[in-house]
Amino acid sequence: MTKNPFIVINKIVKNNINTKHLAAWETIWRMASLLYPRGGSHGAEHILIVCLNVIDICTKDFVSKETKSIAVTAAALHDIGRFIQAGKNHANVGAVWLRTTCMNIDKIIVRDYWDKVLSSIQLHSAYDQCTQEYHKILWDADKLDSTGYLGLLRMGMRSGELEGTRFLSIDQNVAPLKDELQNKIALFTRAHFFTRQGRVIAKTKVKILTFALQEIEYLHNYFPLS
Ligand SMILES: [Fe+2]
Ligand SMILES: [Fe+2]
Repeated sequence: MTKNPFIVINKIVKNNINTKHLAAWETIWRMASLLYPRGGSHGAEHILIVCLNVIDICTKDFVSKETKSIAVTAAALHDIGRFIQAGKNHANVGAVWLRTTCMNIDKIIVRDYWDKVLSSIQLHSAYDQCTQEYHKILWDADKLDSTGYLGLLRMGMRSGELEGTRFLSIDQNVAPLKDELQNKIALFTRAHFFTRQGRVIAKTKVKILTFALQEIEYLHNYFPLS
């Protein structure tokens, strides 16, 4: 199995979209994948997990092939705006950049399909404006990534978009990791997920994170590092 997340993302999308969108997808991904870093908090690793979450939600919730296709294409491209113009509304920046890119490859674009993909990207952090099923699936898939162990490890080990060590030793990691776990547990106990499978995953992750927090607290009481 290949370990390159860019290749895996490409395969997942190609396996789930109609062949009439393939040429446009290949052209757009060739450009977009050059912008994503491999790691970082919103790089290719995050994008891959969001794509896998989309597939999981669509399969368990019996979502139509067309909606799954739109949601997974949007998932692969949703954070591209972060690497085009820092500090601005990245959802909007990404959608605008992709719209311009799509216009330039007009001949192979199925306009209605890409309009739906771009609206999902534009609204992927705007909970109240997610009206379509494909908007809702992407919102859930994206937010669910930050609840997992991988999300926590990325947050703990890297700062922001650029790869770099945030904490320098295990000793320094304990308190921030506990804070992070507590924040995540609170967030995902409160957060509203649109999809049935999104709610199932969120509940499971709250249980796992609560267990992890208890274990860290228990062990740290007996084996304090400082
Ligand atoms: Fe985002
Ligand atoms: Fe994201």
